[in-house]
Amino acid sequence: MGFSFQLQANCTQTQARAGVFHTPHGRVETPRFMPVGTLATVKGLTPEQLEQAGSQMILANTYHLHLQPTETIIEAAGGLHAFMGWEQPILTDSGGFQVFSLSKLRQISEEGVIFRSPRDGRKINLTPERAIAIQNALGADVIMAFDECPPYPAERSAVKDATDRTYRWLERCIRAHQRPQEQALFGIVQGGVHLDLREEAARALIELDLPGYAIGGVSVGEPPEFIHEIVKAIAPLLPEAKPRYLMGVGTYREMARAIASGIDLFDCVIPTRLGRHGAALVRGERWNLKNARFKEDYRPLDETCPCAACQRHSRAYLNHLIKSREMLGYILISLHNVTELIRFTQEIRAAILADRFAEEFAPWLES
Ligand code: GUN
Ligand code: ZN
Repeated sequence: MGFSFQLQANCTQTQARAGVFHTPHGRVETPRFMPVGTLATVKGLTPEQLEQAGSQMILANTYHLHLQPTETIIEAAGGLHAFMGWEQPILTDSGGFQVFSLSKLRQISEEGVIFRSPRDGRKINLTPERAIAIQNALGADVIMAFDECPPYPAERSAVKDATDRTYRWLERCIRAHQRPQEQALFGIVQGGVHLDLREEAARALIELDLPGYAIGGVSVGEPPEFIHEIVKAIAPLLPEAKPRYLMGVGTYREMARAIASGIDLFDCVIPTRLGRHGAALVRGERWNLKNARFKEDYRPLDETCPCAACQRHSRAYLNHLIKSREMLGYILISLHNVTELIRFTQEIRAAILADRFAEEFAPWLES
């Protein structure tokens, strides 16, 4: 029981690796994309559909679930898995990032963050200890350290302060964690676009011998080239025998290149957010299904895709549903998009296992 990460293959031409992350709720084959279920639901999709899409681990958010329905309700239900009817692995983000990106009124101090609930204006105090207590109550397999994600752009001195504070908060998170046998606490490397700050942060985190490591503070408005530069410099420093997670990244090129630098796990709201807007991810492109070019196109979205949207329905039908604002249209496209991004990472995994990743995915790996 518990946690282990087993490496299965290393690419001979890149840093890419294939592995299996074992958790109390089952295995996660890596590299893999994890769909985001902020409020204990991957928007529009049933747990059964998520399974069919190939989801192994999904995300939920401490910040949102604390506000509604609260961890008390979820704990009384038997934890997040029982509450949402998902018996496979779950990861909860700590709330740090969400406080910084979603609440306007907030005060940051060494103690933690005070912010006003966007729901009712109530003052809420989130500290490393509180964030861990909430995540212990929610009961996800992987819980994230409470961190401070500096904005981009920011003064170097402000980024350094946030990065150092993130480390001190991590030490408090480790002390506060009550269920280390059942829940793996991952540390988060911050440092903005400053590679020396990132490197220093990574080295300090590694000393703490955590069960997994994340790279945070990317995809916050910086040019994509920075993401690649950061991941290329930092991922190889992280322990080989632990899972590595790049937070908030889920575009084809960024995932392929991060995998080539040794990243194992990704999450992003892109597939479901696009789905809710009627946009499908098809072989690396974004198609707006409202477009009149699909009106009489009776082919499936993607004939190679195993999802129900592609197996049963046509582009013409999806075009009709989206134009009519029928909820099934958004659901089918979300299902397709989630399936598509998981499939992309599964195909990369298969290529790594066959040591054909660098050749097969060459077009995605160019800058
Ligand atoms: N999600 C995307 N980026 C981040 C980050 O830097 N920190 C946390 N906690 N969550 C994230
Ligand atoms: Zn499909």
